[in-house]
Amino acid sequence: MSNLAIIGGTGLTSVEGLNITRREMVKTPYGSPSGPLITGELDGRPVTFLARHGHKHSIPPHKINYCANIWALNEAGITKIVAVGAVGGISAECTTGTIVIPDQVIDYTYSRINTFFDGKPNEVRHVDFSYPYAEEVRQALMHAATSSGVGCVEHGVYGVTQGPRFETAAEIQRMERDGCTIVGMTGMPEATLARELDLEYACCAVVVNLAAGKQAGLIEHDQLSSAIASGMQSARQVLQTALPALV
Ligand code: HPA
Repeated sequence: MSNLAIIGGTGLTSVEGLNITRREMVKTPYGSPSGPLITGELDGRPVTFLARHGHKHSIPPHKINYCANIWALNEAGITKIVAVGAVGGISAECTTGTIVIPDQVIDYTYSRINTFFDGKPNEVRHVDFSYPYAEEVRQALMHAATSSGVGCVEHGVYGVTQGPRFETAAEIQRMERDGCTIVGMTGMPEATLARELDLEYACCAVVVNLAAGKQAGLIEHDQLSSAIASGMQSARQVLQTALPALV
């Protein structure tokens, strides 16, 4: 098993060029992960892949078993995670197609199981989460984005909403006042759970639309699909370039 895992989000349900050697459905004390852990080699380097929404993209953000996903990766010996996610852009620099490597999170989700440390029979622990993302993994992604010519926004505050609906324009205005620069639905509690198990975790966010009220019209599905397809192509390029620094 490799020690690097990629968690793929919307538009990234497989890794092109991954020579798959193993597909393993695992069970955890928290239930089943979103799909099998797929292990293989990408450019000769060992990588494990997990599709966050399942292979047919059938699990919505609020129903993802984040605990099972992170637990399974940890049990498999993973120590580093790059989490790819589609997001909406709030700040002016986060236009459609931009890759953002966030350095902060604000959690607006609710009713999600968001800790392994929930008391009996588990211990109660309060982990430090001042800086939610692993700087070394962030650096690897940022350098890869620059050297591959894709480019990226090197700071960002990822506001994580409950979904599955998109936000209202007023909610986005409030998030902007809070300091959020991008908005998505899957960044939490994934990042916290990784921190609780001491996994180095960073996010590669792909802006696939301007957030509610930031574009002239409504958020249209046709528009989203083509932005997801091209944005995820950029994310793939960044991941592939970052590999030597990560594995
Ligand atoms: N809001 C929340 N999640 C998202 C968005 C958005 O605008 N775009 C992609 N995921």
